[in-house]
Amino acid sequence: MNQISLVAAREAFAPGIFAGRNFLVTGAGRGIGKLLAERLAGLGARVAICDLVEERARETARIITEADGEAVPLVADVSKENEVRAAVDAVLSRWGRIDVLVNMAGSYGAAYRVTHETPVDEWDSVFASNVRGSFLCAKTILPHMIEAGGGRIINFASNAGRSVSPLLGCSYTAAKTAVIGMTRHLSREYARHGILVNTIAPGPVAGERVSGLLRNDEEGQALNGQIPIGRLAEPADIVDVVLFMASDASRYMTGAILDVSGGLILA
Ligand SMILES: NC(=O)c1ccc[n+]([C@@H]2O[C@H](COP(=O)([O-])OP(=O)(O)OC[C@H]3O[C@@H](n4cnc5c(N)ncnc54)[C@H](O)[C@@H]3O)[C@@H](O)[C@H]2O)c1
Repeated sequence: MNQISLVAAREAFAPGIFAGRNFLVTGAGRGIGKLLAERLAGLGARVAICDLVEERARETARIITEADGEAVPLVADVSKENEVRAAVDAVLSRWGRIDVLVNMAGSYGAAYRVTHETPVDEWDSVFASNVRGSFLCAKTILPHMIEAGGGRIINFASNAGRSVSPLLGCSYTAAKTAVIGMTRHLSREYARHGILVNTIAPGPVAGERVSGLLRNDEEGQALNGQIPIGRLAEPADIVDVVLFMASDASRYMTGAILDVSGGLILA
């Protein structure tokens, strides 16, 4: 996609479309979540920025408030029930409602390892942040969404969960597959309450995570070569689809798994 079409995609979202809506974005201290939080605030939303790392949460919130947006930083490990509850309570007592939960936080193994060499700790921590964390955030917020008469949950899977991770091990592939299963299950349970639950499955995104996993330029070129569009995603390519999933334009969509992978996943 060239620069002109990227600009056109940004302009597809009318100014103020999220005015009056409250978002909680986990993992919003870095990467895709950080950009998403900034874009949401720029479109009028109030955004709760949840991250495990305090400085990251504060920095994203600072950028937003300095640009006259509304944001609150929250420090929580999404895999810990008491921390999730405290974070959700803090948002509810401040803004009264959470309209959209974006379950973005998720860790990954330090490097690719075959399954029989995968440390059990890696398996546990990847499942804790991606699967238990998404479950706990949904479980804690759902009663409030039911009471409010509706809401949205947007989960983050990956091309790994739609096939097999080319860069990370079995723990990541399995955790992201579980996120897809959880999305389907929740979508069926809560549609009658006006709560829509969908998953985005991004392909590899240019940024700190992927550059830290590629061992050399050749690996990067080989990865690009597997992607029909011929390049990694930019964070904005993913964020624009999340904005669509959070907007009224996706009002009839629930239980969907949206591949945003430049054609890497064709199924
Ligand atoms: N970057 C990619 O190539 C890619 C591709 C497909 C899917 N994804 C998914 O998109 C999401 C965002 O990816 P990214 O590359 O922007 O991530 P990132 O690693 O740059 O940032 C993730 C953030 O989540 C936070 N976090 C991790 N564990 C947490 C926990 N237990 N509780 C609270 N916060 C926690 C981290 O501190 C970090 O700030 C992830 O779910 C990832 O699996 C990423």
